[in-house]
Amino acid sequence: MRLAVYPGSFDPVTNGHIDTLQKTSKIFDKIIVAVVHNITKEALFTLDERVNLLKESTRHLENIEVECFNGLLADYLVEKRACAIIRGLRTVTDFDYEMHMALMNKKLLPNVDTIFVMSDTNYIFVSSSAIKEAALMGGDVSSLVPPVVDASLKEKLAQMQDIR
Ligand code: PNS
Repeated sequence: MRLAVYPGSFDPVTNGHIDTLQKTSKIFDKIIVAVVHNITKEALFTLDERVNLLKESTRHLENIEVECFNGLLADYLVEKRACAIIRGLRTVTDFDYEMHMALMNKKLLPNVDTIFVMSDTNYIFVSSSAIKEAALMGGDVSSLVPPVVDASLKEKLAQMQDIR
């Protein structure tokens, strides 16, 4: 079975991530979306929230599972017997960071390759951080994220307004 892992922070999942999954789900038998549990990086959504938002947003794709992982990605790939890592590429700015990560993972795990998927032109400017910044300032991001994420961002904004 050709199993690939799509790792990331997914804080939160965007339509760019979903586009990458739609494309790669046709290539691999199964994809595990692996949400990183990174205690050093502050996230807007909890790990459980990020996993649930991904599960809701990928319901239409049959061969996708969502899990979380911590520690070294290479160890997780061995545990899952994955043959590939999936990463999305938007612009050349992404490339430098992605190339270093891909080379490090290749060094750690020579049998696993990183497969880069070019972003759809509609989502080239879409990042989780830009989405959070715009949404938490009241911007309309509904065309850039799954509906469940749009609703959750609005909830977060309302909670922040209640606290102030
Ligand atoms: O969505 P992100 O934050 O760009 O994803 C980065 C991620 C989670 C893929 C990367 O930080 C990662 O693989 N973290 C696990 C730790 C690890 O294996 N580091 C060595 C690889 S360079």
